[in-house]
Amino acid sequence: MSESYYEKALRLAAEYRKKEAPLMLGIESSCDETAAAVVRNGREVLSASVHTQIPVHRLYGGVVPEIASRSHTERMGGVVRDALEKAGVTLSDIDAVSVTYRPGLIGALLVGASYAKGLAFAAGKPLVGVDHITGHIAANYITYPELTPPFMCIVASGGHSHIVRVDGCTEFTLIGRTRDDAAGEAFDKVARAMGLPYPGGPELEKLAKDGDPEAYRLHTAFNEGEGYDFSFSGIKTAVVNIMHNAEQKGESVNRADLAASFQRAVTDALAVKSVRAAREYGMNTLALAGGVSANGALRERLQRECDKFGIRFCRPDMKYCTDNAAMIACQGHYELMAHDPSPLSIDPNAASFLQMQ
Ligand code: KG4
Ligand code: ZN
Repeated sequence: MSESYYEKALRLAAEYRKKEAPLMLGIESSCDETAAAVVRNGREVLSASVHTQIPVHRLYGGVVPEIASRSHTERMGGVVRDALEKAGVTLSDIDAVSVTYRPGLIGALLVGASYAKGLAFAAGKPLVGVDHITGHIAANYITYPELTPPFMCIVASGGHSHIVRVDGCTEFTLIGRTRDDAAGEAFDKVARAMGLPYPGGPELEKLAKDGDPEAYRLHTAFNEGEGYDFSFSGIKTAVVNIMHNAEQKGESVNRADLAASFQRAVTDALAVKSVRAAREYGMNTLALAGGVSANGALRERLQRECDKFGIRFCRPDMKYCTDNAAMIACQGHYELMAHDPSPLSIDPNAASFLQMQ
């Protein structure tokens, strides 16, 4: 009897684990970036191609899911071809295909997952479904090739803010999470209220550069409390109220001061709680992950907080902070080293496994 697709995938996965330098193709389409990358042996990026949809979504002030799905459909083939070409390899050289299958916009995830399934089936390669959040964490392995778990990680992206203990490359324990908005979401909403274009996080950071972070005290009792959970919507509402009150009184606010004060309140909460978690759980390394890790003030604040307690601070190179496929290929490598390949029936899911913990 001839070998089924999945029997072949299992056989090739066993071969993958024995290879000295296996090649993983990564595919990412969870939000507004269509990305593909080729990574050798889990940590060496041979190519990383990204097509960003930001200019299109900027017209609407945020991501329009239907437009995102259509754009992924149009771009995916070209982005994958580009990644293979830049890596100087062909599909037959690739040993396995990994793809983000959760969390994200469901239509956007479906495009990448369907493409990866088709590719894996047609080319006879093992398929690996990757959780996007674990991919963000793995971006640190690219920047620090010697970094190995256990370590504490603070994940701050557009949809998630979690303190995660990384027990192994594929084992995670949730220590703290946001009770309401994610850090990036709060940045985007405050930026929008200030009339800044999408995506608001980097624009707000630029505005904050000329501001005084001490001008407004926006810290909340919840974030200064003992637990490891965050709350960012109160800080966001405080900013919006300050602007409304000033408007009603015909006064003007110093937007740079307000932006800097907001950024200070968010970065203080992220840094203090995650470093305390690292100390409490006996971790001597703290890594930063997710789109907000591109924020210079957050990187500096975390570095300072880690220095105070002799903790090593790791953060991804700027190009691997926001969504990319190199981080997905990197995590996909570790998933395949530890687990069977995914079946072709694997379903995209809007929620992360961390939200389900
Ligand atoms: O990880 P990511 O690219 O997508 C998600 O998985 O959500 O994160 C995007 C988020 C957005 O909210 C964006 O505003 C925020 O990361 N972000 C920043 C900066 N760069 C991206 N927030 C603050 N400062 C930045 N420099
Ligand atoms: Zn992301």
